[in-house]
Formats: sequence, C-alpha cells, structure tokens
Amino acid sequence: MCGIVGYVGPRDCVPILLEGLARLEYRGYDSAGVAVVGRGKLRVRKVKGRVGQLAQDVPARLSGPVGIGHTRWATHGVPSEENAHPHVDGSGRVAVVHNGVIENAEELRAKLTANGVVLVSETDTEVLAHLIAAVDVDDIEEAVRRVLPDIVGTYGIAVVDTRQPDRIVAARNGSPVILGVGDKELFVASDVMALVRHTSQVVHLEDGEVAVLTADGFSTRTLDATVTTRPPTTVDVEDDDYQAEGYGHFMRKEIHDQPTAVERTLRGRLDERFGTAHLGGLNLTPRESREFKRVKILGCGSAHYAGQIGAQLIEELARVPADSEPASEFRYRNPLIDPDTLYVAVSQSGETYDTLATVQEIQRKGGRVLGVVNAVGSSIARQCDGGIYLHAGPEISVTSTKAFTVTTVDFALLALHLARVRDLSPADGQRLVRGLRALPAQIGEILKLEDQIAGLAAEYGTCPNVMFIGRVRGWPVAREGALKLKEVSYVHAEAYPASELKHGPLALISPETPTVAIVPDDELYDKNLTTLGEIKARGGRILALAHRELPAALADHTIVVPRAEPELDPILLGIPLQMLAYHAAVLLGHDVDHPRNLAKSVTVE
Ligand code: G6P
Repeated sequence: MCGIVGYVGPRDCVPILLEGLARLEYRGYDSAGVAVVGRGKLRVRKVKGRVGQLAQDVPARLSGPVGIGHTRWATHGVPSEENAHPHVDGSGRVAVVHNGVIENAEELRAKLTANGVVLVSETDTEVLAHLIAAVDVDDIEEAVRRVLPDIVGTYGIAVVDTRQPDRIVAARNGSPVILGVGDKELFVASDVMALVRHTSQVVHLEDGEVAVLTADGFSTRTLDATVTTRPPTTVDVEDDDYQAEGYGHFMRKEIHDQPTAVERTLRGRLDERFGTAHLGGLNLTPRESREFKRVKILGCGSAHYAGQIGAQLIEELARVPADSEPASEFRYRNPLIDPDTLYVAVSQSGETYDTLATVQEIQRKGGRVLGVVNAVGSSIARQCDGGIYLHAGPEISVTSTKAFTVTTVDFALLALHLARVRDLSPADGQRLVRGLRALPAQIGEILKLEDQIAGLAAEYGTCPNVMFIGRVRGWPVAREGALKLKEVSYVHAEAYPASELKHGPLALISPETPTVAIVPDDELYDKNLTTLGEIKARGGRILALAHRELPAALADHTIVVPRAEPELDPILLGIPLQMLAYHAAVLLGHDVDHPRNLAKSVTVE
C-alpha cells in the first residue's frame, strides 16, 4: 500500500521519481509528492490526486541528484496536499516517505505537540520527520536507527537530510523496501516495478534493517548497528511487462495474457508418464505429503476465492478435507493450529499484510505454511516454509485477472500432486495432465468471445444490482465474478450459492436485477436448471455461462465456454466474467486499472 521511490546518482532524480511513481500507482493513487535535495536545499512538491497531476505540477527548475517520492493510499487523514508524503520536519531539513501504519502515532503526536512541535498533517508519518530531525547527531542513519525502536507498527521508509545531501536512508519493518543497484547510482522502491527499467540487481531489505544509499554503493545494518551483508540478486522481469501495449488498459492486456501465463506456470511441472505434477519448491517428501489430514487455504479478496477453487480441487482429487478462509478473519480469531494440517497462504503480491500476519501466526504456533505467490522474493514468499511460484508475470491492474486464473491452475497442480501420493489412479492423473495441457488453447478460445461479451456487458454489467449464482464448483466462480464487477464497475453484485437462492435472496429477483448463472455440464446441471426456472418464473433475466446453449425459456443469453476436465471447469468459467466486468467498467467510463478507493497491494491491517 502506497508506493515509494528514491534515487541517488549523477542524473536528475525528478523524472526518475515521477516515472517510478507512475509504475507504483497500483499501490495507491489518491495523492503524491516528491522531495529533492540539491544545492544544499530540500524542495518538496505534493498534490492531491494522481502522479500525472504531480508531473504537471512540478516546476521545470525542480531538479537534483537525490530525491524521494511517494504515491499514497490514505490511512490517516483524507487525501490532501498536507497529508501527502513526503513529510518534512519544522526546519525543512529532513523529509520522509513511509508505507505502513505507525500504531503509536497518536501518543507520539501528543508528545511532539507538548514539546511545541507544530504538526501540519493528520498523518502518522509526519512524526517520523520531526523525531528524526530532533536526534542530536550529525549522521542521518544513526538518527533513523535511534528513532525506529520507539515506533510501534509497520514501516518501509526512505529519508533524506540536507546535512548529508549525498544519501538516502531506508528502513523496513513489515512493509517491503527494495534497493536497486545501478552503475554509480542507487535506487530504492517499495516494489521492483519501479526499478526494472533501470537495473535488474536488487536487494530486499529484511525487517529490522537500515540501509544507506549513495551513488557509490550501499551498506546495511540492523537497528543495533550490526553490519549485515546483502549481495544483490537478479530480478527476472522485463521492462516490457509494464506496458499496456495495444490493449488500452492493463486489465484487458492481463486478461489476454492468460494463455501465455498458464502455459508458463505449467512449464516443466507436468509428468505425463506418471500422471502427476512436480512442484520443486514444496519442500515436502512424499511421506510428508501423505501425512497431514487437512488443508487450510488462506488469502484475501480474489486470492481467497482462488483458494476456494483450490480447496475444492484438493478435496475432490486428493480426498483430504480442505477449505479456504479469508486470512483477514482467520488471524483475528485466535485460530487453533493443528500440526496435522497443511496451511497454504495465497497472494499475488506476496505483500498483503493480513496474509503475511496469518503466516506468522501459524508458524508461531508450530504450523507449516506453503505459499502460492506470484511476486518472487516477496515478504510472504520468503516467510513461508515452501511453496509454488505462479510465474504469471507482473500484474499491474488493481483488479486481479491472470493471477487469479494462474493461482487456480497451480492449485490444480498441487491437488494432482497430493492426489497421486494418495489414491488417485495413474489413469486419472494422466487424464488431468492432458486436461491441464489443454487449458491455454481453451482460454484462447474464450478470449475470442470478447465481442459477444462486450455486447452483453451493457445489459448485464451496468444495472444497479446483479446477482451471481453457482453451485459447488460454480460457487467460487460466481463469487469472483461478482467481486470483479464490483471492483471495476462499482455495480452492486451479490454472489450466492444457487442452492441457497430460494432461502432468501430470491426476493431480490425482478426484471431490473439480472442473474449471471454458472451452469457447467456437471452432475448438478439439472439442479441448476431448476434454479434458473425459479428465477424465470419471477421475471428475472438470466445470462448463463455454460458448456452448451441453454433453452431460451431458461436463459436470455448463454456464453458457451469450452469444456475442460470437469474438475478443471472452474478455471475456465471465470474468464468470461473478467471480460464482462472489464467491458461494463469501460461502458461506464471508469478508470479500469485504478478503481476508486482500492489499492492492489494492501500492506496495512
Ligand atoms: C487487494 C486487491 C484485491 C486482491 C487482494 C489480495 O484487496 O484489491 O484485488 O485480491 O488485495 O491481494 P494479494 O496480492 O494478496 O493476492
């Protein structure tokens, strides 16, 4: 949540900061700012609004070799120029950008005010600037190290000081901070996305580490000044991944990326001969894979719904009880951690704070957690005891599409792997391997339905309320479909198990509230048709996602989706719903890649 960028080197930092911030806007985009150190002075520019507005607002004369920037997702105080980062101490010497939440900010603010400090913003971050500037030492790194032990909460920070104008100090506790090592220039950012244009050499700071960056290099220490050694690693992403190319929006580009992303996640993992999947990072022996008695999947938002599809796959194929729960709920209910349960944390970004805190809580109580994560080297990936990387490539649009689909594919691999060390027959394993191999081409077929779906978006995606229903395998698909529509079109969409409709929500059905129904050709097909009949009898309009055209008496429109192996059907059925949400949002004129009030990576509680 919130994006940080910093630069120190021979170039003018301002264009580098602005371009880096634009790439981090998915993390938050309600206000933005930069602080530049040059010719012994600190100059700050901030705006309420997007990075594009900041770029217009920055005067041409603002330049310098050292600077920090921030794009914000408000937690303390409304989006405004005053609350935008960087925050500066009273003398205008020290500037700070911060991601995370300082939990004892009120107490610290009260102390500062009692000492006569005038606070100009409502933020938690501003206290850092005042506290750091007040430390009576010449060295900014030492000042930062002395202040941080008093900070309760999470932070990723970057700090500049006019008294040491050749450096940036960065520190991390719970919010990612990544150094980018260039040739006689150093970068700092909250995400590699802001760095890859300039360098592929990165260093992920650990919690409790403080780094000093100058044009000549960097050093890292712990809060008690013990030197740490952090050789840079190479990031495996291309700058091209950050262009929307001819698609207009990242969301559309990422929907169209899915055949390639699925192919990439399957590469080298399918074993035709033995009908199984090889997942090198699990760190589980076959014996260990057999021993646990339950699987519990934890994630937030789309990751939770992908986990629900995963839980069904695991239970169905491996015959191990499995379920998915929002990590944001799980962590607060003092959960029982069972040594015989395999816990799986799911996250595209690998930085969602609720999911990370859940992993830590499980580990604290002796549980074992696997990660299903997209962002390589992210906090959750590093915290887990093993796991599966999605290899979906960067996902930029705030709402998840390809990462969701690839997560479900990876759960199918995990389910297959677990099933084959248990009771699934080799023949069934081979059937699923073939089914998985067919997915990229089948997704390609679904993408060809875009014109049809764009036409349907006006009728089913832009009315005030839409109902999404599905039964068993179709139920998480309906939930994710409704979430997609809500996120980007702001249309109220309610997802319900088809079986539960008659127990209450049927009262909502009317000609004005259409239903999107997931109706795969599985053993529940007839039951689903009965539900559709009940909706039609109440004057409801229906858009069905099915494997064959449904009779006009039961569905006003059908999107015909290719058949996968039945267990894998949910992977494909979700894709038309992504396109429906996308085209509804475009019709409504919304900022598809940056929906209001949201951020892609929620690194606060
Ligand atoms: C945010 C996003 C959602 C996303 C969720 C989990 O709420 O708006 O689209 O599904 O975070 O993100 P993660 O990176 O952990 O998958």
